Amino acid sequence: MTGADFDHEELVVRHGERSGATMAVAIHSTALGPALGGLRLWHYESDADGIADVLRLASGMTMKAAAAGLDLGGGKGLICSPATAATLSWTLRREMLLDFGDLVESLGGRYITAEDVGTSAEDMATVAERTANVTGLPKSNGGAGDPSPFTAIGVEAAMRACVESRFGSRELRGLGAVVVGLGHVGARLAMRMRAAGARLVVSDTDPRKRDLAQRLGAGWVEPGEAIKVECDVLAPCAMGGAIGEASADRVRAQIICGAANNQLADDRLAARLDQRGVLYAPDFIANAGGLINVYREVRGYDEDRALAMAMDIEQTMRQVLAASEARSMTPLAAATELARERLDLVVRN
Ligand code: NAI
Repeated sequence: MTGADFDHEELVVRHGERSGATMAVAIHSTALGPALGGLRLWHYESDADGIADVLRLASGMTMKAAAAGLDLGGGKGLICSPATAATLSWTLRREMLLDFGDLVESLGGRYITAEDVGTSAEDMATVAERTANVTGLPKSNGGAGDPSPFTAIGVEAAMRACVESRFGSRELRGLGAVVVGLGHVGARLAMRMRAAGARLVVSDTDPRKRDLAQRLGAGWVEPGEAIKVECDVLAPCAMGGAIGEASADRVRAQIICGAANNQLADDRLAARLDQRGVLYAPDFIANAGGLINVYREVRGYDEDRALAMAMDIEQTMRQVLAASEARSMTPLAAATELARERLDLVVRN
């Protein structure tokens, strides 16, 4: 981690009292409101890798909330699980979640947590035993449930704006698309795209996902090969960093638009993709649907309102692409400006 990476308001790291597990909350900004960002429960090679991840994810949340017009700051939670998802015991999981709830509570409302990779709405109910600063709760607990369907809706909306910009029509029918990662978001996105008439190839590290590929009538490609498939749209919906130095030169998609956070290993790769004629849809614009849903839950839930706001991502992406063209900058630079303009406005007033 370099000093330049740390422009956050606060980073709290501690060992859970019950579990002993390393856990952290990174609060990047509270300029627009309390920092809201999901809890990632993941087995990292080292705690330092987890901390670097949570810092980068937290700053992404600031940009995401600002660009989506939400009165929220950016933050993220982390539990460095000593075990992989397959080997993690129920008891340790519960202890870690309760410890994390205590950590959130100690921040006095500056940070609100929700689910992310490795955690679910049910896990949020466990966290809620220790703090009220939690959203994305199950419907049975008075929450709005899993936000992933809204993320998938938002990604599809963003994709339509990109497709319109590149091919002149927002129709997905007949387009060739590759969806990488068939988890909560990717599986739903693939189903939506299939229903919209796209021709699909899908990929996942989990071979059990081949069943879904079959049900969708989709082709299957191994994860390492997915990036090289010639297609209209590539949708990275697995973990971050899917596009690194080498893969940026190998992408054969016209458009990259997916759900994963931090799809580019380095933001500078946006320029490289642009030079190669690949339209890279900034992830924090495309994947804001889930954040919108949990934001609505905090504000008093109205499903229709959440849905309308997630669909509005199409318009936000149009705005970003228009600014990118008018000002000869990458869509990522245009999206960053959009978010910064809103943050600067608040700081000035
Ligand atoms: P998930 O954990 O449910 O699904 C991830 C899927 O990707 C799994 O099926 C996994 O087997 C697969 N996978 C992991 N590594 C892979 C690789 N190298 N190649 C191919 N497949 C791989 O996660 P979820 O919730 O669907 O999130 C996906 C991405 O979207 C994450 O980056 C997450 O941060 C981001 N995101 C999710 C939101 C949500 O509402 N769930 C909201 C905004 C962003």
